[in-house]
Amino acid sequence: MPIYQPQRGTYDAFYEDQENIEKIASLLKQIASIYGYNPISVPVYETTELFARSAGESSDIVTKEMFTFLDKGGRSITLRPEWTAGVMRAIVTNKLYATKDLPLKLSYYGPTFRYERPQAGRYRQFNQMGVENVGVSSPYSDAETITLGYNSLKMIGFSHVILKINSIGDEESRNAYKEALKEYFSSKIDTMCPDCQRRYKINPLRILDCKDKDDQEIIKDAPKMGDFLNENSKKYFQEILTLLDNQGVEYEIDDSLVRGLDYYSHVVFEFHFISKEGTNLGAIGAGGHYDNLVEEVGGPKLSSVGFAFGIERLNTLLKEISPETYSKCFLDVFVVWLGKDVESYAYDTLQNLRLNGFKADMNFEEKSFKSQIKIALRKQAKFILIIGEDEVKNNAFGLKNLLNQEQITVTKDELITKLDELCIEEE
Ligand code: HAM
Repeated sequence: MPIYQPQRGTYDAFYEDQENIEKIASLLKQIASIYGYNPISVPVYETTELFARSAGESSDIVTKEMFTFLDKGGRSITLRPEWTAGVMRAIVTNKLYATKDLPLKLSYYGPTFRYERPQAGRYRQFNQMGVENVGVSSPYSDAETITLGYNSLKMIGFSHVILKINSIGDEESRNAYKEALKEYFSSKIDTMCPDCQRRYKINPLRILDCKDKDDQEIIKDAPKMGDFLNENSKKYFQEILTLLDNQGVEYEIDDSLVRGLDYYSHVVFEFHFISKEGTNLGAIGAGGHYDNLVEEVGGPKLSSVGFAFGIERLNTLLKEISPETYSKCFLDVFVVWLGKDVESYAYDTLQNLRLNGFKADMNFEEKSFKSQIKIALRKQAKFILIIGEDEVKNNAFGLKNLLNQEQITVTKDELITKLDELCIEEE
Protein backbone atom coordinates (compact mmCIF):
# COMPACT_ATOMS: atom_id res chain seq x y z
CA MET A 1 0.00 0.00 0.00
CA PRO A 2 1.41 3.45 -0.81
CA ILE A 3 2.11 5.75 2.16
CA TYR A 4 1.05 9.25 1.28
CA GLN A 5 2.97 12.28 2.49
CA PRO A 6 1.39 15.70 3.04
CA GLN A 7 1.86 18.12 0.16
CA ARG A 8 4.99 20.30 0.18
CA GLY A 9 4.53 23.28 2.49
CA THR A 10 1.63 21.69 4.40
CA TYR A 11 1.72 20.00 7.77
CA ASP A 12 -0.32 17.81 10.11
CA ALA A 13 -0.86 19.19 13.61
CA PHE A 14 -2.02 17.05 16.50
CA TYR A 15 -2.22 16.87 20.27
CA GLU A 16 -0.29 19.68 22.05
CA ASP A 17 0.54 21.46 18.80
CA GLN A 18 -3.03 21.59 17.56
CA GLU A 19 -4.32 22.35 21.04
CA ASN A 20 -1.99 25.32 21.25
CA ILE A 21 -2.73 26.57 17.75
CA GLU A 22 -6.41 26.61 18.68
CA LYS A 23 -5.68 28.19 22.06
CA ILE A 24 -3.65 31.02 20.52
CA ALA A 25 -6.32 31.74 17.91
CA SER A 26 -9.06 31.68 20.51
CA LEU A 27 -7.15 34.02 22.85
CA LEU A 28 -6.49 36.46 20.00
CA LYS A 29 -10.17 36.43 19.03
CA GLN A 30 -11.19 37.05 22.65
CA ILE A 31 -8.79 39.99 22.91
CA ALA A 32 -10.17 41.43 19.65
CA SER A 33 -13.70 41.13 21.05
CA ILE A 34 -12.63 43.18 24.08
CA TYR A 35 -11.71 45.89 21.56
CA GLY A 36 -15.20 45.68 20.02
CA TYR A 37 -14.54 43.32 17.09
CA ASN A 38 -17.19 40.92 15.76
CA PRO A 39 -16.36 37.66 14.02
CA ILE A 40 -16.72 37.19 10.27
CA SER A 41 -16.16 34.12 8.13
CA VAL A 42 -15.83 34.20 4.35
CA PRO A 43 -15.32 31.40 1.79
CA VAL A 44 -11.90 29.83 1.36
CA TYR A 45 -12.07 30.48 -2.39
CA GLU A 46 -13.21 33.45 -4.47
CA THR A 47 -12.99 34.54 -8.07
CA THR A 48 -9.32 35.07 -9.01
CA GLU A 49 -10.05 38.61 -10.18
CA LEU A 50 -10.92 39.72 -6.64
CA PHE A 51 -7.45 38.91 -5.31
CA ALA A 52 -5.64 40.09 -8.46
CA ARG A 53 -7.34 43.50 -8.30
CA SER A 54 -6.88 44.07 -4.59
CA ALA A 55 -3.38 42.75 -3.89
CA GLY A 56 -2.11 44.33 -7.14
CA GLU A 57 -1.04 42.84 -10.49
CA SER A 58 2.64 43.40 -9.70
CA SER A 59 2.67 41.93 -6.17
CA ASP A 60 4.49 38.64 -5.50
CA ILE A 61 1.25 37.22 -4.15
CA VAL A 62 -0.55 37.69 -7.46
CA THR A 63 2.30 36.95 -9.85
CA LYS A 64 3.77 33.91 -8.09
CA GLU A 65 1.93 32.71 -5.05
CA MET A 66 -1.74 32.12 -5.79
CA PHE A 67 -3.32 28.67 -5.82
CA THR A 68 -5.45 29.20 -8.92
CA PHE A 69 -7.50 26.65 -10.85
CA LEU A 70 -10.44 26.43 -13.23
CA ASP A 71 -13.59 24.97 -11.73
CA LYS A 72 -15.79 22.58 -13.69
CA GLY A 73 -17.67 25.55 -15.15
CA GLY A 74 -14.40 26.99 -16.52
CA ARG A 75 -14.28 29.87 -13.97
CA SER A 76 -10.92 30.95 -12.58
CA ILE A 77 -10.94 30.34 -8.83
CA THR A 78 -8.25 31.14 -6.24
CA LEU A 79 -7.77 29.86 -2.69
CA ARG A 80 -7.50 32.99 -0.54
CA PRO A 81 -3.88 34.19 -0.21
CA GLU A 82 -5.10 36.66 2.46
CA TRP A 83 -8.42 37.56 4.08
CA THR A 84 -8.73 41.31 3.55
CA ALA A 85 -10.06 41.16 -0.04
CA GLY A 86 -12.65 38.48 0.81
CA VAL A 87 -13.82 40.43 3.85
CA MET A 88 -14.21 43.59 1.72
CA ARG A 89 -16.17 41.59 -0.85
CA ALA A 90 -18.45 40.28 1.92
CA ILE A 91 -19.00 43.83 3.24
CA VAL A 92 -20.19 44.91 -0.20
CA THR A 93 -22.19 41.75 -1.04
CA ASN A 94 -24.05 41.97 2.28
CA LYS A 95 -24.20 45.80 2.30
CA LEU A 96 -22.80 45.76 5.83
CA TYR A 97 -21.67 49.38 5.35
CA ALA A 98 -25.36 50.40 5.11
CA THR A 99 -26.92 48.08 7.69
CA LYS A 100 -24.38 48.19 10.54
CA ASP A 101 -22.78 51.08 12.38
CA LEU A 102 -19.44 52.31 11.10
CA PRO A 103 -16.72 51.47 11.69
CA LEU A 104 -17.32 47.82 10.92
CA LYS A 105 -14.99 46.00 13.27
CA LEU A 106 -14.45 42.47 11.98
CA SER A 107 -12.16 39.68 13.17
CA TYR A 108 -11.39 36.37 11.46
CA TYR A 109 -9.35 33.23 11.73
CA GLY A 110 -8.68 30.39 9.33
CA PRO A 111 -6.62 28.78 6.58
CA THR A 112 -4.82 30.90 4.02
CA PHE A 113 -2.89 29.64 0.98
CA ARG A 114 0.25 30.89 -0.75
CA TYR A 115 2.41 28.97 -3.19
CA GLU A 116 5.68 30.05 -1.57
CA ARG A 117 9.02 28.28 -1.23
CA PRO A 118 8.62 26.47 2.11
CA GLN A 119 11.10 27.28 4.88
CA ALA A 120 11.03 27.79 8.66
CA GLY A 121 7.76 29.57 9.48
CA ARG A 122 6.65 29.65 5.85
CA TYR A 123 3.96 27.26 4.68
CA ARG A 124 1.73 26.90 1.65
CA GLN A 125 -1.28 26.43 3.89
CA PHE A 126 -1.17 28.46 7.09
CA ASN A 127 -3.62 30.16 9.43
CA GLN A 128 -4.16 33.86 9.77
CA MET A 129 -6.00 35.61 12.58
CA GLY A 130 -6.74 39.19 11.67
CA VAL A 131 -8.94 42.23 12.10
CA GLU A 132 -10.34 44.88 9.76
CA ASN A 133 -11.63 48.22 11.03
CA VAL A 134 -13.64 49.67 8.14
CA GLY A 135 -15.33 53.01 7.65
CA VAL A 136 -13.80 55.71 9.83
CA SER A 137 -10.92 57.96 8.85
CA SER A 138 -9.19 58.91 12.07
CA PRO A 139 -5.67 58.48 13.42
CA TYR A 140 -7.42 57.01 16.48
CA SER A 141 -8.66 54.06 14.37
CA ASP A 142 -5.13 53.40 13.11
CA ALA A 143 -3.55 53.80 16.53
CA GLU A 144 -6.21 51.66 18.21
CA THR A 145 -5.70 48.85 15.68
CA ILE A 146 -1.91 48.91 16.00
CA THR A 147 -2.24 48.98 19.81
CA LEU A 148 -4.59 45.98 19.67
CA GLY A 149 -1.98 44.01 17.70
CA TYR A 150 0.85 45.05 20.02
CA ASN A 151 -1.10 44.34 23.23
CA SER A 152 -2.44 41.03 21.89
CA LEU A 153 1.11 39.78 21.42
CA LYS A 154 2.05 40.85 24.95
CA MET A 155 -1.09 39.24 26.38
CA ILE A 156 -0.38 35.85 24.79
CA GLY A 157 3.19 35.73 26.09
CA PHE A 158 5.54 37.82 23.91
CA SER A 159 7.32 39.94 26.51
CA HIS A 160 8.94 42.21 23.96
CA VAL A 161 7.74 42.87 20.45
CA ILE A 162 9.49 44.81 17.70
CA LEU A 163 6.94 47.01 15.94
CA LYS A 164 8.25 48.41 12.65
CA ILE A 165 6.18 51.26 11.32
CA ASN A 166 6.25 53.59 8.33
CA SER A 167 3.99 55.85 6.31
CA ILE A 168 3.63 55.40 2.57
CA GLY A 169 1.49 58.55 2.48
CA ASP A 170 -1.57 59.44 0.47
CA GLU A 171 -1.92 58.90 -3.28
CA GLU A 172 -0.31 62.22 -4.17
CA SER A 173 2.76 61.45 -2.02
CA ARG A 174 3.04 57.93 -3.41
CA ASN A 175 2.79 59.13 -7.00
CA ALA A 176 5.61 61.60 -6.39
CA TYR A 177 7.65 58.79 -4.81
CA LYS A 178 6.97 56.40 -7.68
CA GLU A 179 8.21 59.04 -10.13
CA ALA A 180 11.40 59.46 -8.09
CA LEU A 181 11.90 55.67 -8.02
CA LYS A 182 11.41 55.47 -11.81
CA GLU A 183 14.03 58.11 -12.28
CA TYR A 184 16.47 56.44 -9.88
CA PHE A 185 16.09 52.96 -11.41
CA SER A 186 15.94 54.12 -15.06
CA SER A 187 19.69 53.79 -15.62
CA LYS A 188 19.96 50.54 -13.59
CA ILE A 189 16.85 48.54 -14.45
CA ASP A 190 18.44 46.71 -17.43
CA THR A 191 20.92 45.05 -15.04
CA MET A 192 18.19 44.00 -12.60
CA CYS A 193 16.16 40.77 -12.47
CA PRO A 194 13.26 40.15 -14.89
CA ASP A 195 10.78 40.54 -12.00
CA CYS A 196 12.08 44.02 -11.26
CA GLN A 197 11.92 44.93 -14.95
CA ARG A 198 8.24 43.98 -14.93
CA ARG A 199 7.64 45.80 -11.62
CA TYR A 200 9.33 48.90 -13.05
CA LYS A 201 6.65 49.12 -15.73
CA ILE A 202 3.59 48.32 -13.55
CA ASN A 203 4.49 49.66 -10.08
CA PRO A 204 8.08 50.68 -9.25
CA LEU A 205 7.23 50.54 -5.52
CA ARG A 206 7.19 46.75 -5.78
CA ILE A 207 10.88 46.76 -6.83
CA LEU A 208 11.59 47.43 -3.15
CA ASP A 209 10.21 43.91 -2.30
CA CYS A 210 12.91 42.21 -4.45
CA LYS A 211 14.87 39.51 -2.58
CA ASP A 212 17.70 39.23 -5.17
CA LYS A 213 21.04 40.03 -3.45
CA ASP A 214 22.52 42.08 -6.34
CA ASP A 215 19.28 44.01 -6.77
CA GLN A 216 19.16 44.73 -3.05
CA GLU A 217 22.55 46.47 -3.35
CA ILE A 218 20.98 48.86 -5.87
CA ILE A 219 17.74 49.20 -3.90
CA LYS A 220 19.46 50.21 -0.68
CA ASP A 221 20.45 53.62 -2.11
CA ALA A 222 17.01 54.30 -3.66
CA PRO A 223 15.08 57.42 -2.56
CA LYS A 224 13.15 57.00 0.70
CA MET A 225 9.36 57.37 1.02
CA GLY A 226 9.67 59.75 3.99
CA ASP A 227 11.16 62.45 1.76
CA PHE A 228 8.05 62.47 -0.45
CA LEU A 229 5.28 62.69 2.14
CA ASN A 230 3.12 65.79 1.66
CA GLU A 231 2.08 67.89 4.66
CA ASN A 232 -1.24 66.07 5.18
CA SER A 233 0.42 62.66 5.16
CA LYS A 234 3.15 63.81 7.53
CA LYS A 235 0.58 65.26 9.93
CA TYR A 236 -1.58 62.09 9.83
CA PHE A 237 1.42 59.86 10.53
CA GLN A 238 2.62 62.08 13.36
CA GLU A 239 -0.81 61.99 15.01
CA ILE A 240 -0.77 58.18 14.98
CA LEU A 241 2.75 58.11 16.46
CA THR A 242 1.71 60.49 19.25
CA LEU A 243 -1.26 58.27 20.13
CA LEU A 244 1.03 55.23 20.22
CA ASP A 245 3.49 57.12 22.45
CA ASN A 246 0.66 58.02 24.82
CA GLN A 247 -0.31 54.35 25.10
CA GLY A 248 3.27 53.22 25.75
CA VAL A 249 3.46 51.34 22.46
CA GLU A 250 7.12 51.16 21.46
CA TYR A 251 7.95 51.25 17.76
CA GLU A 252 10.82 51.68 15.32
CA ILE A 253 10.27 53.85 12.27
CA ASP A 254 11.52 51.83 9.30
CA ASP A 255 11.61 54.04 6.22
CA SER A 256 12.22 51.06 3.92
CA LEU A 257 8.97 49.34 4.96
CA VAL A 258 6.45 49.50 2.09
CA ARG A 259 4.67 46.08 2.41
CA GLY A 260 4.07 43.75 -0.51
CA LEU A 261 0.40 44.50 -1.16
CA ASP A 262 -0.81 47.34 -3.38
CA TYR A 263 -3.83 48.47 -1.39
CA TYR A 264 -2.08 50.30 1.44
CA SER A 265 -1.81 54.03 2.00
CA HIS A 266 -0.60 56.06 5.01
CA VAL A 267 0.52 53.89 7.90
CA VAL A 268 1.98 50.38 7.39
CA PHE A 269 3.45 48.18 10.11
CA GLU A 270 4.93 44.79 10.95
CA PHE A 271 5.37 42.94 14.24
CA HIS A 272 8.62 41.00 14.68
CA PHE A 273 10.07 38.89 17.44
CA ILE A 274 13.56 37.46 17.77
CA SER A 275 13.99 34.85 20.53
CA LYS A 276 17.02 34.74 22.85
CA GLU A 277 18.20 31.72 20.86
CA GLY A 278 18.10 33.92 17.76
CA THR A 279 15.05 32.39 16.09
CA ASN A 280 13.63 34.92 13.68
CA LEU A 281 10.73 33.79 11.51
CA GLY A 282 10.20 37.16 9.83
CA ALA A 283 7.05 39.13 10.53
CA ILE A 284 4.69 37.46 12.99
CA GLY A 285 1.95 39.85 11.98
CA ALA A 286 1.51 42.83 9.69
CA GLY A 287 -0.98 45.29 8.32
CA GLY A 288 -1.76 48.85 7.45
CA HIS A 289 -4.24 51.52 6.45
CA TYR A 290 -6.16 51.33 3.15
CA ASP A 291 -8.67 53.70 1.58
CA ASN A 292 -9.90 52.25 -1.71
CA LEU A 293 -10.51 48.54 -1.24
CA VAL A 294 -14.25 48.64 -0.51
CA GLU A 295 -14.72 50.96 -3.50
CA GLU A 296 -12.54 48.68 -5.69
CA VAL A 297 -14.96 45.82 -5.06
CA GLY A 298 -18.10 47.85 -5.78
CA GLY A 299 -18.92 49.66 -2.51
CA PRO A 300 -18.44 53.20 -1.23
CA LYS A 301 -15.03 54.69 -0.44
CA LEU A 302 -14.29 53.76 3.17
CA SER A 303 -11.08 54.42 5.09
CA SER A 304 -9.92 51.26 6.79
CA VAL A 305 -7.09 49.69 8.72
CA GLY A 306 -6.28 46.11 9.69
CA PHE A 307 -3.65 43.49 10.29
CA ALA A 308 -3.18 39.74 10.31
CA PHE A 309 -1.06 37.43 12.46
CA GLY A 310 0.54 34.22 11.19
CA ILE A 311 -0.61 31.68 13.77
CA GLU A 312 2.04 29.04 12.99
CA ARG A 313 4.83 31.57 13.53
CA LEU A 314 3.32 32.58 16.88
CA ASN A 315 2.94 28.93 17.85
CA THR A 316 6.54 27.99 16.99
CA LEU A 317 7.95 30.96 18.90
CA LEU A 318 5.72 30.53 21.97
CA LYS A 319 6.80 26.89 22.22
CA GLU A 320 10.41 28.07 22.30
CA ILE A 321 10.05 31.05 24.64
CA SER A 322 7.71 29.64 27.26
CA PRO A 323 7.73 25.83 27.20
CA GLU A 324 6.46 25.81 30.79
CA THR A 325 3.26 27.62 29.94
CA TYR A 326 2.91 25.91 26.60
CA SER A 327 -0.09 23.77 27.36
CA LYS A 328 0.11 20.03 27.46
CA CYS A 329 -2.81 17.78 26.61
CA PHE A 330 -3.88 16.54 30.00
CA LEU A 331 -6.73 14.79 31.74
CA ASP A 332 -8.24 15.86 35.02
CA VAL A 333 -9.08 12.31 36.02
CA PHE A 334 -8.24 8.84 34.78
CA VAL A 335 -10.59 6.19 36.17
CA VAL A 336 -8.74 3.03 37.18
CA TRP A 337 -11.03 -0.01 37.61
CA LEU A 338 -10.18 -3.42 38.97
CA GLY A 339 -12.25 -6.43 37.94
CA LYS A 340 -14.93 -6.96 35.26
CA ASP A 341 -17.70 -6.66 37.91
CA VAL A 342 -17.01 -2.98 38.52
CA GLU A 343 -16.54 -1.95 34.87
CA SER A 344 -20.09 -0.64 34.39
CA TYR A 345 -19.99 1.19 37.77
CA ALA A 346 -16.69 2.80 36.71
CA TYR A 347 -18.19 3.72 33.33
CA ASP A 348 -21.17 5.44 35.04
CA THR A 349 -18.78 7.33 37.30
CA LEU A 350 -16.73 8.41 34.25
CA GLN A 351 -19.83 9.78 32.50
CA ASN A 352 -20.80 11.66 35.68
CA LEU A 353 -17.33 13.25 35.84
CA ARG A 354 -17.66 14.37 32.22
CA LEU A 355 -21.17 15.74 32.75
CA ASN A 356 -19.69 17.84 35.55
CA GLY A 357 -17.08 19.29 33.20
CA PHE A 358 -14.01 17.21 34.08
CA LYS A 359 -11.75 16.00 31.32
CA ALA A 360 -11.92 12.31 32.15
CA ASP A 361 -11.19 8.97 30.56
CA MET A 362 -10.78 5.28 31.28
CA ASN A 363 -9.59 2.16 29.54
CA PHE A 364 -12.17 -0.28 28.19
CA GLU A 365 -9.96 -3.37 28.23
CA GLU A 366 -9.32 -5.13 31.51
CA LYS A 367 -5.76 -4.34 32.57
CA SER A 368 -3.64 -4.63 35.70
CA PHE A 369 -3.48 -1.72 38.16
CA LYS A 370 0.12 -1.06 37.09
CA SER A 371 -0.69 -0.88 33.37
CA GLN A 372 -3.59 1.49 34.03
CA ILE A 373 -1.31 3.79 36.04
CA LYS A 374 1.13 3.81 33.12
CA ILE A 375 -1.68 4.85 30.76
CA ALA A 376 -2.79 7.60 33.19
CA LEU A 377 0.78 8.94 33.31
CA ARG A 378 1.13 8.87 29.53
CA LYS A 379 -2.14 10.78 29.24
CA GLN A 380 -0.80 13.30 31.78
CA ALA A 381 -3.74 12.82 34.10
CA LYS A 382 -3.73 14.98 37.23
CA PHE A 383 -5.71 12.46 39.31
CA ILE A 384 -6.60 8.80 39.24
CA LEU A 385 -9.84 7.56 40.72
CA ILE A 386 -9.50 3.98 41.91
CA ILE A 387 -12.58 1.75 41.76
CA GLY A 388 -12.51 -1.86 42.97
CA GLU A 389 -15.10 -4.14 44.59
CA ASP A 390 -14.56 -2.66 48.07
CA GLU A 391 -14.94 0.88 46.77
CA VAL A 392 -18.26 0.01 45.11
CA LYS A 393 -19.49 -1.69 48.30
CA ASN A 394 -18.53 1.29 50.47
CA ASN A 395 -19.49 3.98 47.92
CA ALA A 396 -16.08 5.58 48.50
CA PHE A 397 -13.08 5.80 46.17
CA GLY A 398 -9.37 6.34 46.35
CA LEU A 399 -8.44 9.63 44.68
CA LYS A 400 -4.73 10.01 44.03
CA ASN A 401 -2.94 13.15 42.91
CA LEU A 402 -0.33 11.95 40.39
CA LEU A 403 1.75 15.09 40.73
CA ASN A 404 2.40 14.90 44.51
CA GLN A 405 1.33 11.25 45.07
CA GLU A 406 -1.10 12.22 47.88
CA GLN A 407 -4.08 9.89 48.14
CA ILE A 408 -7.38 10.52 49.89
CA THR A 409 -10.67 8.66 50.19
CA VAL A 410 -13.79 10.41 48.92
CA THR A 411 -17.40 9.25 49.07
CA LYS A 412 -19.43 9.10 45.89
CA ASP A 413 -21.49 12.11 47.01
CA GLU A 414 -18.55 14.38 47.74
CA LEU A 415 -16.49 13.37 44.66
CA ILE A 416 -17.42 16.29 42.40
CA THR A 417 -17.07 19.00 45.08
CA LYS A 418 -13.73 17.60 46.22
CA LEU A 419 -12.39 17.41 42.66
CA ASP A 420 -13.53 20.99 42.00
CA GLU A 421 -11.51 22.17 45.01
CA LEU A 422 -8.45 20.11 44.12
CA CYS A 423 -8.42 21.16 40.46
CA ILE A 424 -8.61 24.84 41.46
CA GLU A 425 -5.63 24.30 43.82
CA GLU A 426 -3.67 22.72 40.95
CA GLU A 427 -4.18 25.69 38.62
P1 HAM B 1 0.80 39.70 5.13
O1 HAM B 1 1.95 40.48 5.64
O2 HAM B 1 0.89 39.21 3.74
O3 HAM B 1 -0.49 40.63 5.30
O4 HAM B 1 0.51 38.47 6.08
C1 HAM B 1 0.27 38.64 7.46
C2 HAM B 1 1.03 37.61 8.27
O5 HAM B 1 0.72 36.28 7.83
C3 HAM B 1 2.55 37.68 8.13
O6 HAM B 1 3.08 38.69 8.97
C4 HAM B 1 2.98 36.29 8.56
O7 HAM B 1 3.06 36.21 9.98
C5 HAM B 1 1.84 35.42 8.08
N1 HAM B 1 2.22 34.73 6.83
C6 HAM B 1 2.26 35.24 5.59
N2 HAM B 1 2.65 34.32 4.69
C7 HAM B 1 2.87 33.18 5.41
C8 HAM B 1 3.28 31.85 5.07
N3 HAM B 1 3.55 31.49 3.82
N4 HAM B 1 3.40 30.92 6.08
C9 HAM B 1 3.13 31.25 7.36
N5 HAM B 1 2.73 32.50 7.74
C10 HAM B 1 2.60 33.44 6.79
C11 HAM B 1 -1.75 40.27 4.93
O8 HAM B 1 -2.09 39.14 4.65
C12 HAM B 1 -2.74 41.39 5.02
N6 HAM B 1 -4.05 40.90 4.57
C13 HAM B 1 -2.81 41.94 6.43
C14 HAM B 1 -3.81 43.04 6.54
C15 HAM B 1 -5.04 42.98 7.08
N7 HAM B 1 -3.63 44.27 6.11
C16 HAM B 1 -4.73 44.98 6.34
N8 HAM B 1 -5.59 44.20 6.91
